[in-house]
Amino acid sequence: MARIFVSCRIFPDEVARLERAGHEVEMYPGDMIPREELLRGVSSADVLICPLSTKVDGEVFSSAPHLKIVANLGVGVDNIDLGEARARKVLVLNTPGVLTETVADLAFALMLAVARRIVELDKRLRADGFPGWSFMPRYLGRDVWGTTLGIVGLGRIGGAIARRAKCFSMEVLYHSRTRKPDLEEELGCRYVGLDELLRESDFVVLCTPLTPETHHLIGERELSLMKDTAYLVNISRGPVVDEAALVRALREGRIAGAALDVFEREPEIHPGLPELDNVVLTPHIGSATTGTRRRMAALAVDGVLAALRGERPANLVEPDVWPGKL
Ligand code: NAP
Ligand code: GLV
Repeated sequence: MARIFVSCRIFPDEVARLERAGHEVEMYPGDMIPREELLRGVSSADVLICPLSTKVDGEVFSSAPHLKIVANLGVGVDNIDLGEARARKVLVLNTPGVLTETVADLAFALMLAVARRIVELDKRLRADGFPGWSFMPRYLGRDVWGTTLGIVGLGRIGGAIARRAKCFSMEVLYHSRTRKPDLEEELGCRYVGLDELLRESDFVVLCTPLTPETHHLIGERELSLMKDTAYLVNISRGPVVDEAALVRALREGRIAGAALDVFEREPEIHPGLPELDNVVLTPHIGSATTGTRRRMAALAVDGVLAALRGERPANLVEPDVWPGKL
């Protein structure tokens, strides 16, 4: 029997699955757990199931002497100190794959929303009413179809965005850590350096994980390479973009707009961003559909149950650290 601490609300049937397997579960009944509550909860836990807003750092590991598994409810694991986990032989699980298509949908929703000014015009319509159809309105938008899309980080989500882009007759450029000949062949997307991607794209979509290499990957210099008609879409992690530099570029009209699902200091929003009309902001909802959140919770619980049975989980973040049994 293992003691499992879940640091946010998850679906009751997934908690029941853990309990039916004979484990003792304690769940924090809210969404943003206070730090003291987290440290208390992990102090007797063998397993922590957590959302990506739970920072699992050295202090958490030190407070959790029995911890064997951390299962993150998300694919990005930048909230977890992986070096510390490895040193303490704690397995880390995440939720890759099951959210890919849902996040790719959001990337397209954001591109369409910012280019066609949907949020700005919705707000105006509610405030001022519909002034009547106009052939030359002040609020002409820009096309998404037929333009050039630059994907930074062509992994699972980047690939799903590239597939959608083909249906929008877009030319797809990509920059990634490694080249993807299969996707180049399948989708006709073209590998380019980051600077060339920024210069040529009408939409730049960020899909990398947050790592030391991707921190502020898009800053003042990179934004200055973009066309003044281009849009930046960030569905990766906030700190991949230097938000202060982004606000300056948007204010000065050096790029046409931005759509952001993630923020540099979540849940804070950088001052200046909410006031800008050429910005669409969503509260980190990339995977937030009922079906996908169910699949993420199920994958996390499947992984935990497998590891506790001594079987290798399919969703190990570092497959080479599987010890054979816990
Ligand atoms: P993935 O399959 O691992 O794709 C990430 C891609 O980024 C990989 O192709 C990787 O290259 C590439 N990459 C890594 N470092 C890079 C660098 N320095 N420069 C350029 N490319 C780099 O992961 P995924 O499932 O697509 O998820 C990607 C990220 O999206 C997650 O880590 C998470 O931060 C974010 N995300 C956000 C939401 C949301 O709600 N907004 C939801 C899900 C995920 P390799 O092919 O060489 O590994
Ligand atoms: C969400 O941001 C995730 O990484 O799954």
